[in-house]
Amino acid sequence: VSAGPQGKIRAARAVDVPVLAQLAGELGYPTATGQMERRFARVTTDADHQVFVAEDAAGTVVGWVQVNYTRFLASDPRGEVLALVVAAGSRGRGLGRQLMQAAEQWTRDQGGTQLSLRSNIVRKETHVFYERLGYQVTKTSLNFQKPL
Ligand SMILES: CC(C)(COP(=O)(O)OP(=O)(O)OC[C@H]1O[C@@H](n2cnc3c(N)ncnc32)[C@H](O)[C@@H]1OP(=O)(O)O)[C@@H](O)C(=O)NCCC(=O)NCCS
Repeated sequence: VSAGPQGKIRAARAVDVPVLAQLAGELGYPTATGQMERRFARVTTDADHQVFVAEDAAGTVVGWVQVNYTRFLASDPRGEVLALVVAAGSRGRGLGRQLMQAAEQWTRDQGGTQLSLRSNIVRKETHVFYERLGYQVTKTSLNFQKPL
């Protein structure tokens, strides 16, 4: 999808599943490889989802982004980033930016004109990252959830 001096961005493949699972843990969502295998299989057969990985200069996968093209009835469809992570040892080299650019281009390719995301209020440094990339806070919401 894109290549730069720090690495390259490409669509995720089944072979990436173990590292996707490991990096989900770094994001704060501990995930077993088997769980990731099932989720990945489902997500990658859905044309409204895309997963990109970042490879470092040595070809090791060190980050990933999941983007969804969400089809709202009450507003135009838009891209939504559902998860983004770069391994701690590979941060600050532009890979997060490259992953977001891939998510933006994919959203444009679907016909979308907006990309949005939610980020936990405690991730202050991550908010600086998104602002550097041109994202602005549009609203602050409460998340509600109920065990079923
Ligand atoms: C957020 C995250 C994906 C950024 O990835 P990254 O590869 O380190 O980011 P980049 O190197 O591409 O940085 C892009 C820009 O953001 C800035 N930036 C990145 N992290 C920053 C930080 N912690 N504080 C301030 N600025 C930061 C960089 O300086 C850079 O700015 P510039 O290019 O204008 O100089 C990574 O820090 C991460 O995985 N964090 C933990 C998980 C997380 O918060 N995920 C998102 C959940 S919503």
